[in-house]
Amino acid sequence: MSFFNFSKRQEPTEALVQIKHESYFNELFNKEFSRLGKQKHVYLDYTGGGLYATIQLRKHHEMLESLVLGNPHSSNPSSKKSTELVEESRQAVLDFFNADDYCCVFTQNASGALKIVGECYPFNEDACFSLLMDNHNSVNGIREFAVRKNAKFYYCNILKDNLRLDEDCLAEHFDQHDDVKNKLFAYPAQSNVSGVKHDLKWVKYAEERGWDILLDAAAFVPTSKLDLSQVKPSFVAMSFYKIFGYPTGLGCLLIRKDKFHKLEKPWFAGGTVSMVSNTKSKHFLAESNERYEDGTLNYLDIPAIKIGLDFIKGIGIEKITERVTELRKYLYNALSEIKHDNGNAVARIYGPTDHQNIGGTIIFNVITQGGETIFFDEVEKEANKELISLRTGCFCNPGIDEINNEVSSAKLTDFYKDQSNVNMNDALNFFDFQRGAIRISVGIATRQVDLDKFIQFIIKNYQNK
Ligand SMILES: Cc1ncc(COP(=O)(O)O)c(C=O)c1O
Repeated sequence: MSFFNFSKRQEPTEALVQIKHESYFNELFNKEFSRLGKQKHVYLDYTGGGLYATIQLRKHHEMLESLVLGNPHSSNPSSKKSTELVEESRQAVLDFFNADDYCCVFTQNASGALKIVGECYPFNEDACFSLLMDNHNSVNGIREFAVRKNAKFYYCNILKDNLRLDEDCLAEHFDQHDDVKNKLFAYPAQSNVSGVKHDLKWVKYAEERGWDILLDAAAFVPTSKLDLSQVKPSFVAMSFYKIFGYPTGLGCLLIRKDKFHKLEKPWFAGGTVSMVSNTKSKHFLAESNERYEDGTLNYLDIPAIKIGLDFIKGIGIEKITERVTELRKYLYNALSEIKHDNGNAVARIYGPTDHQNIGGTIIFNVITQGGETIFFDEVEKEANKELISLRTGCFCNPGIDEINNEVSSAKLTDFYKDQSNVNMNDALNFFDFQRGAIRISVGIATRQVDLDKFIQFIIKNYQNK
């Protein structure tokens, strides 16, 4: 579909398409996100972090100004009030995800939640850990817990042409480990790089074959409905700032109640035990979320989670899904129509072309007329000058980058031979700067004009270069 005539460098005079819900989200922008407009800031890094609405700050600050809140879990009034607010937020999280069968453990972020599973899953020589080539490093890192305890780990393939799962390969993989006692499969409900939504059907499929499932929902839940009464992974990890921007420093691990005792916590800390003796070196761990909440909770910020979830509920997660899908389609079409005069495309976009099962993310590189990739860092520097916040690099997801840039196994073997290759610049030099990409991700405060500004930025700086 054609939106503007981008074949010659020209200002778009009129959009032929209006993105769905444009007036609703424009109004929301003016009311809650006007700071972006005042600065003329085009924010396109929602997978990096969501943005908070002004009302969230106001409500939270009013709460803090009006209450006396003390360290929870005591009977004094300041403590009781904190406990009440923390538990309200916990219940709000469970309600938001229809998670009656789960307990909610507050963590520092998604990585903190993933680490609990990595550290506590019963890995041993009779266990295995399987994951996708498309995973965030906070999931990849769990393999280190597995190997230290002599468990095996396996990567399942991602198809280069559309960055989706190799379904045949995965199905076969699930059937291959009948004799293994503890099998953990981890995958992202949405890729933090390509935006591809990996099918949630694999949760049931894997469980039926005896696997435990760790769903990394960090990139998925900000713009998609996760209904845990329908899809029931053993464990779910997420960060709240990705959903509603504020506060940072909080996430959660949702543990399906019947999997609570599958995890084996290797130590204890303040707040996680019901009884400890030093004379006998004995302890009993708490039988609830407290088991995993080491030390004092962030009791001043946790109440802001309920405020954030209420804000999202007020818009409706289904409307947000529809909106980002439309925004992405608009941007994808416009970006793929920008051509050099010799007919070559200016953007090499990675991933699916069909707009199905994909979040509000586009990953691409800018290509010269002669077919050279312009190093992503140069594009980011130019974008910075125009107050466009985008993200570049490998996005903590080396698997997708190795696939997109066709990095060979032999080249990687060579690279890791030299133990002095420890910083990013060495790595980029070694790979002749053929790594990385540019990521645009849209969200609730993205408007059509923001995408048009970005498109103009690409045309102005890179068409016919
Ligand atoms: C899919 C995915 N998983 C995990 C993480 C880690 O989240 P955090 O840095 O909040 O711990 C991210 C962050 O971008 C992510 O996108």
